[in-house]
Amino acid sequence: MNIPEIRKICCIGAGYVGGPTMAVMAQKCPHIRVVVVDVNEHKIAQWNDTNLDNLPVYEPGLKEVVKEARGRNLFFSTDMDAEIDNADMVFISVNTPTKTYGKGKGMAADLKYVELSARKIAEVATSDKIVVEKSTIPIRTAQAVRKILSNTGNGVNFQILSNPEFLAEGTAVNDLYNPDRVLIGGEESEDGKKAMEALASVYNNWIPKERILQTNIWSSELSKLVANAFLAQRISSINAISALCEKTEADVDEVAKAIGMDTRIGAKFLRSSVGFGGSCFQKDILNLVYISRFYGLDEVAYYWEGVLDINDYQKNRFADSIIIKLNNTLSDKKIAFLGWAFKKDTNDSRESAAIYVADRLMEDKGTIAVYDPKVSEKRMHDDINYLNTRDKEENDKLLQYYPDPYEAMKDAYAIAVLTEWDEFLDYDWQKVYDNMIKPAYIFDGRNILNHDKLRKIGFNVQGIGKKNK
Ligand code: UDX
Ligand code: UDX
Repeated sequence: MNIPEIRKICCIGAGYVGGPTMAVMAQKCPHIRVVVVDVNEHKIAQWNDTNLDNLPVYEPGLKEVVKEARGRNLFFSTDMDAEIDNADMVFISVNTPTKTYGKGKGMAADLKYVELSARKIAEVATSDKIVVEKSTIPIRTAQAVRKILSNTGNGVNFQILSNPEFLAEGTAVNDLYNPDRVLIGGEESEDGKKAMEALASVYNNWIPKERILQTNIWSSELSKLVANAFLAQRISSINAISALCEKTEADVDEVAKAIGMDTRIGAKFLRSSVGFGGSCFQKDILNLVYISRFYGLDEVAYYWEGVLDINDYQKNRFADSIIIKLNNTLSDKKIAFLGWAFKKDTNDSRESAAIYVADRLMEDKGTIAVYDPKVSEKRMHDDINYLNTRDKEENDKLLQYYPDPYEAMKDAYAIAVLTEWDEFLDYDWQKVYDNMIKPAYIFDGRNILNHDKLRKIGFNVQGIGKKNK
């Protein structure tokens, strides 16, 4: 196979991963032409919008990167066929949601978009290419992609690499600039090694060699799932302890600090919360559970499933504590939500705890008034309608979007903090209190507010893993 120095890159999928990753790659490699393609024309138009506030992905620092590289060597296009064929290297960065039908429903990843992308590459390629899987996928997907690409019969050769993304949303640009490691998995043949080297040399434009790790393709695919499972497991561990703290005199933040100072444990990812969300943790653990079961490893499957069980428990526990405090009746009561995104500094709300907490409160007929600085009204309604718990009209009535936080909290019986946005700290809490129904409750699902100060104003405050004083 002819593996040239990489000059032209195409990425299929202009989402939360493909967009920022390619923007940074183009910024750091001005000699490489990077084109991001997507089936969604509207999204491509947003990426090309002259007003950089209209980019489809919100990430701190992303605007500046796009501003520098777009039109120079970074392009967003819908001309998928031509751009794929023109590239030396094609990234697949399409979404891989959990299957909602058939075998593996609710557990396995739906690979139809990855497969579609592979078929598209097979159909249009007239020259040899390196195909890089960026999407998070269950292990052995490379095999499936290879099968499709090796059966084109048109004499074109492909090398398939796995290059999982470890960026976290909200800090994507920084994570892409300074990753702890870049992982590249490839075939253990001469051509496989050359392909891995070609991709490594792209990253080497801004990342030191010692942080670029090369493994076999299966290790690379599995490592992505395992990394996310381990991170999520830490959150579920501390969240399990938060329930115990609420029953005793212990304080979860003090416990987290005390154990985190043990260097063997480490301080990161020990923030107790209303539960983790995001497009990856739940999906990747479900994948791990699914493949473990597939191979007859039931104990392994149960072990990792426990991480998800605690996460569901945490979301339900939070919702239930609100219902109980409001005398088991939410009918005609307004409950203000601060935050809808699954974490701060992103407009992404996939699998956000807020969705599930809202749904449970709406089952009790509570009216939810949501303010989030970045998530759109449409997205919020799509999230709740997707659950199919009740009809759309009922959802529209019970879930209300507010562009102004003070309006959302006015006349509310309770406030629930679902996302840790910094701006919540600086609100005029006295003013908020004055405009609420008394007794005024705050349920701080992120433990970010100053509870003592709020109690002095008159609020009744309940944090996660804190004794309700
Ligand atoms: C990423 C990863 O790729 C996914 O595997 C991971 O688990 C979550 O993060 P992400 O970039 O967040 O996905 O997904 P999304 O923002 O939905 O973007 C995917 C894009 O691919 C969409 O814009 C979609 O229109 C596009 N797409 C999808 C195609 O261009 N072609 C397809 O066939 C399917
Ligand atoms: C995660 C991984 O961190 C990243 O490496 C991978 O590429 C994709 O999945 P992401 O989902 O974007 O990234 O965000 P992350 O920062 O990991 O947060 C996930 C969820 O866990 C959020 O809901 C967050 O609020 C929650 N969380 C995180 C906690 O509740 N407590 C913590 O201590 C840390």
